[in-house]
Amino acid sequence: MTARSIPDRFAVADDGVDPDEVPKRALRTGARIPAIGLGTFGSDRYTPEDVAAAVLGAVSVGYRHIDCASVYGNERLVGRALQAILQGGIQREDLWITSKLWNDKHGEQDVIPACRRSLDDLQLEYLDLYLVHWPFPNYHPPGCDSTSRHPDAKAYHHDAYMKTWRQMERLVDLGLVRHIGTSNMTIPKLKRVLGDARIQPACNEMELHPHFQQPELFDYLVENGIAPIGYSPIGSPRRPERDRTPEDSVDIEDPVIAGIADRLDVHPAVVCVAWAIQRGQIPIPFSVRRPQYLASLRAAARVPLLTDDEMRAIGGIDRNCRLIKGHVFLWKNGQTWEDLWDPGGEITPP
Ligand SMILES: NC(=O)c1ccc[n+]([C@@H]2O[C@H](COP(=O)([O-])OP(=O)(O)OC[C@H]3O[C@@H](n4cnc5c(N)ncnc54)[C@H](OP(=O)(O)O)[C@@H]3O)[C@@H](O)[C@H]2O)c1
Repeated sequence: MTARSIPDRFAVADDGVDPDEVPKRALRTGARIPAIGLGTFGSDRYTPEDVAAAVLGAVSVGYRHIDCASVYGNERLVGRALQAILQGGIQREDLWITSKLWNDKHGEQDVIPACRRSLDDLQLEYLDLYLVHWPFPNYHPPGCDSTSRHPDAKAYHHDAYMKTWRQMERLVDLGLVRHIGTSNMTIPKLKRVLGDARIQPACNEMELHPHFQQPELFDYLVENGIAPIGYSPIGSPRRPERDRTPEDSVDIEDPVIAGIADRLDVHPAVVCVAWAIQRGQIPIPFSVRRPQYLASLRAAARVPLLTDDEMRAIGGIDRNCRLIKGHVFLWKNGQTWEDLWDPGGEITPP
């Protein structure tokens, strides 16, 4: 597919879902975020053209929430799709668009220009949500393998993070961004940030799927008025090779998930999405295939879809199986990826 083949005419589909029937979650500001969004990371398999066409198709069937990031390398083409959507009659205030600050733009002087760049690429005047993508300022080139390390890689440094956060707060003051949030955080890091932030994070984006439920972090977020956005909600079956290890499990092959899928006559992926929404997180499944993203949205509009027993059964299959381990952000020799996630309950020292 070439850039020219992205459809530039938008029309609401006849067989889609009424966006008013898709649940919303209230944020601390009172704003309401659609309880499901479309992911846009192409996992090095799908081109920017594929992803932009999916954004257009997803909004045509009723999605109103799109999860973007500069590092996904497709915001310019996604912006063309958004432009077609807005010209096709969808109101800007009816869309929820998220983007993220990449790790090499944490410097005080870099945050606002990086956000403006995403806004230019996405052809928008404001973002609904802007996230600090990772708490580490450690750049690595797109597509590198998990053994890659940057020579200047650093541990989490709270004062440095707060300097970045002050610029995130300025983005709100400037009207460029409506909400700011964190991603890939832990409870010890969030405790520090919540204590020092002038504008509290509205959301935290984190890995969440049936085999990786992160119950402590989930509860901490809810108690502190931060909405959990769940990435890789289907267990990221198409994630790049560099993010695979032999011990990883496969959510959509779990017999509990497969059994519920049989009862509902849906793909196991749809059960993962329905479980996520029913539990209270905001899943952002990725797909470029219309039958898939439509099936996920239809399930969202039917939540609660799972019985209490089914919810309990899925609650019981957590394997603490983190898939996106973050190896490339390690900062010194002899560490394991667990060090990135503060396993001792304290921020891992430099
Ligand atoms: N904040 C962060 O650090 C971070 C990290 C990772 C991801 N994310 C975000 O989260 C999004 C989603 O995560 P992800 O892409 O890793 O994985 P995912 O959504 O768990 O899995 C996506 C794959 O699941 C399959 N799928 C999707 N819907 C389906 C359906 N209804 N029926 C059957 N199969 C279905 C598709 O496989 P096929 O392609 O084979 O059809 C698709 O490629 C990303 O796109 C990105 O926006 C954020």
